[in-house]
Amino acid sequence: MKVGVLTGGGDCPGLNAVIRAVVRKGQNVHGDEIVGFLDGWKGVLEGATMPLGVAAMRGTLPRGGTVIGTSRTNPYKLDGGPEQVRATLRDHAIDALIAIGGEDTLGVANKLYQEGVAVVGVPKTIDNDLSATDVTFGFDTAVQVASDAIDRLHTTAESHDRVMVCEVMGRHAGHIALHAGIAGGAAMILVPEEPFDIDDVCDHIKQRHAQGRYASIVVVAEGATPKEGTMVLAEKGVDAFGHVRLGGIGNVLAEEIEARTGFETRVTILGHIQRGGTPTAFDRILSTRFGIAAIDAVHDGAFGQMVALRGTEVVRVPLSEAVGELKTIDRDLFHNVAEVFFN
Ligand code: F6P
Repeated sequence: MKVGVLTGGGDCPGLNAVIRAVVRKGQNVHGDEIVGFLDGWKGVLEGATMPLGVAAMRGTLPRGGTVIGTSRTNPYKLDGGPEQVRATLRDHAIDALIAIGGEDTLGVANKLYQEGVAVVGVPKTIDNDLSATDVTFGFDTAVQVASDAIDRLHTTAESHDRVMVCEVMGRHAGHIALHAGIAGGAAMILVPEEPFDIDDVCDHIKQRHAQGRYASIVVVAEGATPKEGTMVLAEKGVDAFGHVRLGGIGNVLAEEIEARTGFETRVTILGHIQRGGTPTAFDRILSTRFGIAAIDAVHDGAFGQMVALRGTEVVRVPLSEAVGELKTIDRDLFHNVAEVFFN
């Protein structure tokens, strides 16, 4: 078969490991020709491709990013976009497409499948907010990077008796904040799912410091919001999928904490450091399993499906189930584990 592969949305550690596994099993076991579409759906719209062979993918397992590039292009936002996608697939004699992405990329894949395109999905996002899979690849790496950073913040915070605000990614869901906050021993974790009261945050910090502990790490997800609009947050425009570009809550929060508590406060915004660089061993293994499962799904004709991790098994689930609703944090983990340490 001739199989196209694309990576869409924000890049993510493990993308190359998925492509490598698709290529290795596709070429060596199934006898496929694998073609990469450049820069996500943009490459499919423009017919921009590169051949992907076993030799070309050598050495890419530990490499972050994606060798075929990515973008947030949405064919459904462009006049004639879906027709152009179908025309490219026809012109390049593509029998099936493997789309590696998050909610947006797989949302496009699902619509195309409903319109007759043979597509299989692979769940990617450092945010871990995709439904129908227990975990997405890239999440473990992001949590590791964030908890390493929090460990480092502890020692400088303690030396200076400071409050440290650490802003992590997570637009609509606080999985990274929650997991890295627990792993890093945060004094407070603020997530989009649980709007926070700035007075409570400050009271809590004052109470901690009154007990004679003079360093507090507050981990905040970029999409965390204050209750009742008590703090103004900057918005920086929207992307092709209509998502507001965030980044800034950490600064506002740090200023408010310092002003209200009188404790010196500093902010660290981890940003794209969480997305770049080498994947953890967990993510390399998960990505490899997903890649192999995806090319096998293509050969089983399991189109409109996404490979997913359920427990310890890699299974197939309908794409529609994955993109229906965002997966939010485990409230039990937040309230019955993380909160126990907010004192
Ligand atoms: O979707 C993953 C993500 O990392 C979000 O957590 C973050 O808000 C966004 O991407 C940032 O996107 P960009 O790279 O376009 O700034």
